[in-house]
Amino acid sequence: MMKKFIVPILSTIVLSTILIVVFQTIPLTPMLASVQGRDVDVLMRALLSLSSVIFSLVVSFVLYSVVAFRRRPGDLTDAKPVYGNVTLEVVWTVIPLLIVLGLGAYGATQVVELHKPPSERAMVVEVTGSMWAWGFFYPDYGFTSTELVMPVDQPMLFHIQTVDVIHSFWIPEFRIKIDAIPGILNHVELTPTEVGSYQAVCAELCGTAHAYMVAPVRVVTMEEFVQWVLEQQEAAGCVGPLADEGSQLANDFGCFGCHATDSHVHLGPSFRGLYGSQRELEDGTVVVADEEYLRNAILLPGAQVVKGFANVMPKDYRERISPEDLQTLIDYIKTLK
Ligand code: CUA
Repeated sequence: MMKKFIVPILSTIVLSTILIVVFQTIPLTPMLASVQGRDVDVLMRALLSLSSVIFSLVVSFVLYSVVAFRRRPGDLTDAKPVYGNVTLEVVWTVIPLLIVLGLGAYGATQVVELHKPPSERAMVVEVTGSMWAWGFFYPDYGFTSTELVMPVDQPMLFHIQTVDVIHSFWIPEFRIKIDAIPGILNHVELTPTEVGSYQAVCAELCGTAHAYMVAPVRVVTMEEFVQWVLEQQEAAGCVGPLADEGSQLANDFGCFGCHATDSHVHLGPSFRGLYGSQRELEDGTVVVADEEYLRNAILLPGAQVVKGFANVMPKDYRERISPEDLQTLIDYIKTLK
């Protein structure tokens, strides 16, 4: 009676041991570069190991049955009918139930861990997704960057929002992925552990340029970070309350998703040096970017599209922006010489 179990059970043990060793040792994911990502990796490898056992068990018994209980030549009898087996049914219900409950509990503790109140020394970055770019606003320093730069071993608190459709903020080396949802401010805390260059990508299909919604990410030493902040502040003209208020507004309205404050040209022209410059339009006419031009460009974006740029500026600022905010924004752009 027991003899027919020996082969498949031995096969299960051997096969699952091999699979577990493989899954525990081969590199399955990009390098790990955050504190919070460790648990994700542990959970993933635990799931694979558990799946290896179940996979081996099923495959071993199926293959053994196919071979051991095949119809012999000349055997014309029917198989013996089987009417249920209470013990077996209880076992194969209770064991998977316990496994699923255990995994659920483990996953839940991980989620709680991720959503615990941010640590006191976390540095805030407001991440804004827009079709199709990421903008990073550093409220403590008053500037926005199209590149995410972080000091190594510094807890970072990301506030994640979108100005249009759903995007998903994901740095694969950090493991955690979080959606940017219209009308909702999401949060996640991450602590980078490895100096290096990475990429933040969008993990939610958000339109034709979804695949290009990629932002550079750098983890640097604290000294390099301070140096970078000083450079950005200088470039963004972050001096005086006007510039602070203006850059905050520009961030809230999602301007930085497309317009840089340094010399970079993104989906839209850079704000730097914009005011007073000559702009060649689609139809070849040349206009001066004075205050009226800036006002029109914000309120009636399709009217004077600058040559070389697509007409992708959102058309609803007319309804969303108050006259005072509009003036603040224009004054802010004027400071970016
Ligand atoms: Cu944003 Cu895909």
